[in-house]
Amino acid sequence: MSAPREPRHAPVLVADVLRLLDPQPGQTWVDCTVGAGGHSKLIAERLTGTGTLIGLDQDPTMLELARPRLAEVPAKITLVHANFDQLAEVLANLSIGTVDGVLADLGFASDQIQAAGRGFSFREDGPLDMRLDPSTGATAADMVNTMSEGGLADVFYEYGEERLSRRVARKIVERRTTKPFATTADLANIVRSCVPRSGSIDPATRVFQALRIAVNDELGALDRLLAALSRIVKPGGRAGIISFHSLEDRRVKQAFRTANVWEPLNKKPVEAGEEELAHNPRSRSAKLRVAVRI
Ligand SMILES: C[S@@+](CC[C@H](N)C(=O)[O-])C[C@H]1O[C@@H](n2cnc3c(N)ncnc32)[C@H](O)[C@@H]1O
Repeated sequence: MSAPREPRHAPVLVADVLRLLDPQPGQTWVDCTVGAGGHSKLIAERLTGTGTLIGLDQDPTMLELARPRLAEVPAKITLVHANFDQLAEVLANLSIGTVDGVLADLGFASDQIQAAGRGFSFREDGPLDMRLDPSTGATAADMVNTMSEGGLADVFYEYGEERLSRRVARKIVERRTTKPFATTADLANIVRSCVPRSGSIDPATRVFQALRIAVNDELGALDRLLAALSRIVKPGGRAGIISFHSLEDRRVKQAFRTANVWEPLNKKPVEAGEEELAHNPRSRSAKLRVAVRI
């Protein structure tokens, strides 16, 4: 039997997550985005043998990657393959009412982006998929091959801030009439053919980000989680969200400002310091907000 693969994803803002969320022995916590299990392990260690951690991820391969790492921790840990917009239902199935705290570390893990077969990256060719949950929903190829030109342009502009969104959408629609898109390299090359490079950033970056957000309905899922959290976290309990995009951070900031429901613990989002930035480039756009349920 081959040895389990080591996770590549390094958790961000670790010290601040533990300081602001402050999990205590015996408590019940939820990690909405287990990923490679980095934050889950740290939280579960604080809960000790008497505490419980429920871990969700919509990508079953990430849960399997995290499982051996979490098996070392004495807390009672239950891993569930689910979208976090189903958190209330997941907890009801486990006969759990409210919890002491919730963490969500949004987006994707390094392990996912580096797996060419998942289609998140334009650096290596692979199928144009991009689903975080590979068992359900439309792929990025389905979207670029069927959405209207206007619809594609809106996605690229809104989720990727691509100024040349209309030009890219037109090119895609022209090309797909002769040959539908199937691979990441195919799409990246079309984008590169009509968006000039500025600096070191690949011109395909913004379009790929936009498609990933759309394919996984990332903002819709976040809105549904934020709406459900006030009923899930018990009074005095804490919720922490790490976001990587201004559209996400704006939603979290707004939700945590709801009077008589949340008391934000930090007015400005916590960001990575120089040392973390030097070691973990992914921490560059991470923003952590934590609030206490009133
Ligand atoms: C940034 S990674 C989390 C990394 C994790 N905190 C760690 O320390 O390893 C984000 C993870 O959340 C998962 N994810 C993203 N959106 C999700 C959603 N709506 N529901 C459940 N899981 C989601 C992704 O599949 C990915 O594994």
